[in-house]
Amino acid sequence: MTSMLLTPDMHATHNSDTHSHDMYSSDTHSSAARDSAPHVQIDPAILYFGTPVVLVSSRNADGSANLAPMSSAWWLGRSCMLGFGARSATPANIQRTGQCVLNLPSAHEASLVNRLVRTTASDPVPPHKLAMGYEHEADKFARAGATAVPSVHVDVPRVAECPVQLEAELEAVHPMAVRDPLRRGGLVALELRIVAVHVAPHIRMAGHAHRVEPDAWRPLIMSFQRLYGLSDVPVESELARIPEEAYRRGAAGAVVASPSAS
Ligand SMILES: Cc1cc2nc3c(=O)[nH]c(=O)nc-3n(C[C@H](O)[C@H](O)[C@H](O)COP(=O)(O)O)c2cc1C
Repeated sequence: MTSMLLTPDMHATHNSDTHSHDMYSSDTHSSAARDSAPHVQIDPAILYFGTPVVLVSSRNADGSANLAPMSSAWWLGRSCMLGFGARSATPANIQRTGQCVLNLPSAHEASLVNRLVRTTASDPVPPHKLAMGYEHEADKFARAGATAVPSVHVDVPRVAECPVQLEAELEAVHPMAVRDPLRRGGLVALELRIVAVHVAPHIRMAGHAHRVEPDAWRPLIMSFQRLYGLSDVPVESELARIPEEAYRRGAAGAVVASPSAS
């Protein structure tokens, strides 16, 4: 397939939020339409094509527990990489204490995630977050309606409601976008070592002591701010109320490129 640049007219049509749903609803899902339509080059404000939601618990400087939804996460072996806006409370907590817990919600726990949208432990709330409607929340566990249970290896509580809880220690800090004058200093990737894995009994694979049953484990997935539970039916997403363009660098009130960013 060749890709092609949008003319100004095409740009207006293809980028129109009001038209996009109708235009792309059924036609483009048929294989005939997929085979014949040339790709078009677009300029999305965010590139969140779909990753699991993680509720990261960490310890604030005053000793209280923090809980932050995030989704720039992937695993390799026993290691995990998490991408954060560098000035958020959570990455600061993890770098100061060297510890956190990655609590993985399924679609059933989407309400916990939704209740934490646009909250931060930072006080005062940084200007870019204020512009997106964020507010300070000192007790994120209470705000989420999450039950804190002690961890085994780290001094950070787990979220009892989440079917998967991964205790983790900080391995390395990787500054991101270091050659991008616009984003330099705004993003950080934290490399974690998973030191303990806790799973709810209902997602264990029958006959195997240490395996997860993929048909039983349905991670909550965030794709372009919408939440999914690995079925065709989207889950209610509070995050999706933030206009995508608010994430574009340079836009009024924009953050550093992530539902995430900072
Ligand atoms: C579904 C979802 C996914 C998010 N993904 C990220 C992410 O990958 N990285 C990030 O820095 N923030 C992400 N955020 C935004 C953080 O939750 C937000 O910055 C929050 O204020 C962090 O809490 P803290 O400031 O107390 O650390 C996400 C939010 C939601 C609701």
